[in-house]
Amino acid sequence: MIRITVPSIEEDDLAAVRETLQSGFLVQGPRVKAFEDAMAAEVGTKNVVAVTNCTAALHLALLAIGVVPGDLVLVTAYSWITTANVIELCGAQPVFVDVDPKTFNMDPAALERRLAELANLGETRKRLKAVLPVHTFGQMADVDALGSIAAKAGIPMIEDAACALGATWNGKRAGSVGLVGAFSFHPRKAITTGEGGALTTNDDALARTLRALRNHGQDPTPEPGATDPFVMPGHNTRMTEMQGAMGVTQMKKLARIVTARKRLAARYDERFRGSNVTPPHVPAGSGHVYQSYVTLLPEAAAAARPAILAKLKERGVEATIGTWHMPLTQYFRTKYGYRKGDFPASDDVFARALTLPLFEAMTDAQVDEVASTLLDVVSSV
Ligand SMILES: Cc1ncc(COP(=O)(O)O)c(C=O)c1O
Repeated sequence: MIRITVPSIEEDDLAAVRETLQSGFLVQGPRVKAFEDAMAAEVGTKNVVAVTNCTAALHLALLAIGVVPGDLVLVTAYSWITTANVIELCGAQPVFVDVDPKTFNMDPAALERRLAELANLGETRKRLKAVLPVHTFGQMADVDALGSIAAKAGIPMIEDAACALGATWNGKRAGSVGLVGAFSFHPRKAITTGEGGALTTNDDALARTLRALRNHGQDPTPEPGATDPFVMPGHNTRMTEMQGAMGVTQMKKLARIVTARKRLAARYDERFRGSNVTPPHVPAGSGHVYQSYVTLLPEAAAAARPAILAKLKERGVEATIGTWHMPLTQYFRTKYGYRKGDFPASDDVFARALTLPLFEAMTDAQVDEVASTLLDVVSSV
């Protein structure tokens, strides 16, 4: 079976985790700090706050900017469910924004339309707290356009950069453009710490709040004379030292891994040229890191996607859908009454997207086999 992903774990990762276990110092300490420093150097922000996973990172980001029950957060419609869940977990309401069907990313024109609708709502408009685009599948959203729309609306942009470590947009690095960025180090990401996440921000005061929120609400730099450190109700979303140690060794491989993924993605692109399977669209100025290589099936084959996935599996290729149409998932559909047609571009890509195997150790022969198997299967349904 050609797996959808295989993490790049090597001797240095194993040695780092072993050394940490032997040290007896297992929770958030110097190794986590070293990983945060490596992330800060990679992303280019002053502050990095490592946490347990990107879900926690996004949740803490919303809490830190003061999202409270009854607030609204503009969020892309097509993403892993976390991106909307964290808004609900704050007691706030997601206001979904449709995507550009070519890039799968939040469409700036759709964001403008949503804001115009909200402008008519008077008091409700005042509850708008942030815009939360996702850098879907490792390609940055148009942060220039989205960022300036958010600034005009007087709200911060939070980047869900879970999949996008190393990605760029017109030279800007993922996680460095918005008020805060959130990353994941889940094994399906370019580098992994098992579970793991990080927040990036240039705002020192916000970083201090985030550090308190991840550690039981303890102020990391207490004021002189403070009798105790507990300044707010906080979570425990600290990273372990094993994860921190592995993050450091993994980070050293990032450039190598991304280079390999880009090369393999270009080979896939070549194999699909002129066929009825659409390879990922990469606009000028975008540095895509291909956390996932996501194709679009021809419209006529959309209904057969489950059969296509089953046939690929039979023929030794592990594949999956793209990601989720969040407004149409059970919880959001039932609570807010969304229907097909409300987000037409998300409807389309949710039906047609198909993710193919991609990992650093994949061979050219495996890419060719996956591509030819997919083309063969699509032509037979
Ligand atoms: C876009 C996006 N946001 C957030 C997450 C959540 O990341 P984690 O699994 O680290 O909580 C994911 C996970 O895949 C994701 O794809």
